[in-house]
This record gives sequence, C-alpha cells and structure tokens, in this order.
Amino acid sequence: MNSDNPRISEELGSAPALSSNLRFFKSELRILPGVVIPLHSMLVETPTKVILVSPVGTKAELLACEGKQVILVEPSLLHHKRLAKAVQRLEPQELWGPEGFSDKLPEFKDARVFGRDPWPHDDALSFALIDGVPKRNEVVFFHHPSRTLYTADLAFAIMEPKGALAPFALRMLGVYKQFAVPKMWNRWVKDVPAFQKSIDRVLSWPIENIAMAHGDHVRGNAREKLFAALRARELV
Ligand SMILES: [Fe+2]
Repeated sequence: MNSDNPRISEELGSAPALSSNLRFFKSELRILPGVVIPLHSMLVETPTKVILVSPVGTKAELLACEGKQVILVEPSLLHHKRLAKAVQRLEPQELWGPEGFSDKLPEFKDARVFGRDPWPHDDALSFALIDGVPKRNEVVFFHHPSRTLYTADLAFAIMEPKGALAPFALRMLGVYKQFAVPKMWNRWVKDVPAFQKSIDRVLSWPIENIAMAHGDHVRGNAREKLFAALRARELV
C-alpha cells in the first residue's frame, strides 16, 4: 500500500516472532489523513548476516543489524519511501530490488535485481517474483524453518484499524478487519496467466504462516487461506 505522501511513525516495538532467527519491526504508515496502517519490516538473521526486507531505518532495525553483514531488500516498486534513510543508517553491503527498481530510483542504480542477479542468500530466505503486475513487480519471500511467507502488499490483515477514516478506506479496499487481498490487485494484474503461474510457484511452498507488511500474522493453514483470498478476488 502506498500514497504519494505517506508518513511513517516508528519505534512501536517488535511484532511477535515466528522463529528464533526471524523478527519483525513494527511502524505505522499514514497513507491518507485519518487512515493509518501498520508497516512491518522483516529481518532474517544468520550467524554472519542479516537480511532486512522492506526496511524503514528505525533504531530497532539498526540495533538488530549491528555488527553483521547487512542485506537490504525492497520487495516491490512501491515500498521505498524510507529506503534512503535506511541505506544511510544501515550501510548495507547489498541492496536488492525488483525489476525496474533502478529506473524508478536512479540513485540506487547499483542495486541488485531479483530474477536477474544470482541471489546468494537462499540458505536463509527464498524468493519468488510475482509476474504480470508491472506497476508493482512484487517479490515475496519464504522462510523455510518457520514455513512463513512474507508479502508487502499481496494480502492485508489489519484487525485493529487506526484513524477516523480507516474503516471506510479499508472497506473500500476490501480488507476491513480481515485477511484479504486488496481489491487493487484486480486493476494491477495486467497479465493474468503470468500472475497465476507466479502464484502457483508461491503456493508450492509449504506455507504455514503469512507475515505481511500491512497486517497481523496469519498463523496456521496459511497456504489454503491465501488461495481462498485470491480466489475471492477471482485472481486464481
Ligand atoms: Fe504496501
């Protein structure tokens, strides 16, 4: 989710972990006046490195990255509002983004590209491209030990909306107090067969949990829940 002028507030603490080497950092994103949605970055840690997906650059992230090789990951073409700050604070050894990322953000022209450059961190985190959605080029991630999928925008689960207009806005998006695929995907998907092929690849993982940038974790039976949410939008 995004707008032209989102405001992010930080330091709201960590979201519950799903595995000992998997952590989430919680911020909030004001997408419109009166509409505040959660924003979770995800960190996967190994003895030598950390992979931080959808970084915000909070103090909590900074502390978690201290002393490790830092790999920063932008999971879509529309999740980069705090990237410059995160890069400045976290001094990553690698920056990764989707196809089209460096066209959109020429200041990061040296960023590595998912699907083009070899991803050397599959031992810690696997990825899959969501094809057929050129405005977003979302990349989703799978953490094998906890069987957890992370998505930036494919699904939301905002159970405690904040802001006077949030109920209205979230109902418009079809995600009010429920795990659901935002209605915008029906507009965003330009190549349905390519999109569905990508979803087939995603659903081939044994997904037990889903962590979202914008929502509470979905725990248990999450592969079936994601399929049902996509089916509800007639996207699969
Ligand atoms: Fe988003």
